[in-house]
Amino acid sequence: MKQYNVGIIGATGMVGQRFITLLDNHPWFNIKLLAASPRSAGKKYTEAVGQRWAMKDGIPQSVKDMVLYDATADIDEIAKQVDFVFCAVDMKKDEIKELEERYAKAECPVVSNNSAHRHTPDVPMIIPEINPQHTEIIPMQRKRLGTERGFVAVKSNCSLQSYLPALAVVNQKYPIDHALVTTYQAISGAGKTFETWPEMVDNLIPYIGGEEMKSEVEPNKILGKIEGGEIVPSNELQIECQTYRVPVSDGHTAAIFFSFKDSANKPSVEEIENMWREYKGVPQELELPHAPKQFIYVYTEDGEPDQPQIKTAREIGGGMAISCGRLRESVQYDYKMVSMSHNTLRGAAGGAVLLAELLAAKGYFE
Ligand SMILES: NC(=O)c1ccc[n+]([C@@H]2O[C@H](COP(=O)([O-])OP(=O)(O)OC[C@H]3O[C@@H](n4cnc5c(N)ncnc54)[C@H](OP(=O)(O)O)[C@@H]3O)[C@@H](O)[C@H]2O)c1
Repeated sequence: MKQYNVGIIGATGMVGQRFITLLDNHPWFNIKLLAASPRSAGKKYTEAVGQRWAMKDGIPQSVKDMVLYDATADIDEIAKQVDFVFCAVDMKKDEIKELEERYAKAECPVVSNNSAHRHTPDVPMIIPEINPQHTEIIPMQRKRLGTERGFVAVKSNCSLQSYLPALAVVNQKYPIDHALVTTYQAISGAGKTFETWPEMVDNLIPYIGGEEMKSEVEPNKILGKIEGGEIVPSNELQIECQTYRVPVSDGHTAAIFFSFKDSANKPSVEEIENMWREYKGVPQELELPHAPKQFIYVYTEDGEPDQPQIKTAREIGGGMAISCGRLRESVQYDYKMVSMSHNTLRGAAGGAVLLAELLAAKGYFE
């Protein structure tokens, strides 16, 4: 496979740090440069990130002495040196939208962790195992932007990646009508650790700003179809969601109740569990470097009713698998279940790296 030079925009942040650890020794992608705010620009990475480094392993040797670029002022210089950038910055939505389009217009593709462009109709929002076909919108986006190779592609919100894949796989064969979801979200999803957010020890906050709307709306785009130069959201599966911040470092869990459109002919528990176990998406077929061999890991209610637990399940498949358990009949809905995924791996940087691998394998960085 061809080698690609990449830049990380927002390299000092929580997600940026994950990008660095995931890309250190990546078989296709080589970290060429790092960028952050003007506060960090001109400093060596170790100095700029300082005490904020929150990964288990130390800072990789290859980036320690890299001098940070200014993510906004140095766009042209950055675009000249890399084949594409990963972007995860904490800025206002409008500023991020503009920043990402400026990179795209400088002919530098952007694989984004940010939510700013998730609802731009010609920007694909991709979970690589679920809607890889949405990459086909990219030539239409390039036409709008007036670019030859520049474009923006985004991954979805981390919370819905803990449960939507499980529903979407079943939905392909047995359409689901509606689902009621409660998510229990880790503090790293807010870019925090217990050191930087001590109030979260022994606590639960029943509110995460904007998160419930994301969980209810983003699945419609992921399940949508390309029509007339845009991705038209589906309105088939209605999701209602509540989100909680819980005292967990990494890993989002979801409790889900769901019903089929044709409840009278619903699949059995065993059939659903087999659909999950046997499902292979494009990343598995192409054997992309970050694709977990088994996308959905299943715990049965008979065998392991106390799973998936954060500590046992979040690292499965290198933190890229979705774990499901407790699937059983419900009184008010057809079924109820629990699922979880690692929020900064599958849900953030890992999901973006897998998306970039899909884009590379399909030739979008040429
Ligand atoms: N944490 C998660 O699990 C998660 C999951 C999904 C999506 N996201 C999204 O990913 C993005 C980053 O999240 P995070 O948790 O990594 O945030 P974070 O830890 O607060 O890091 C923010 C990064 O943005 C940079 N930045 C801030 N202002 C900037 C500016 N004016 N120009 C250029 N860079 C600037 C910071 O650089 P300095 O160090 O120089 O200030 C830092 O590198 C956000 O949009 C967030 O919503 C996060």
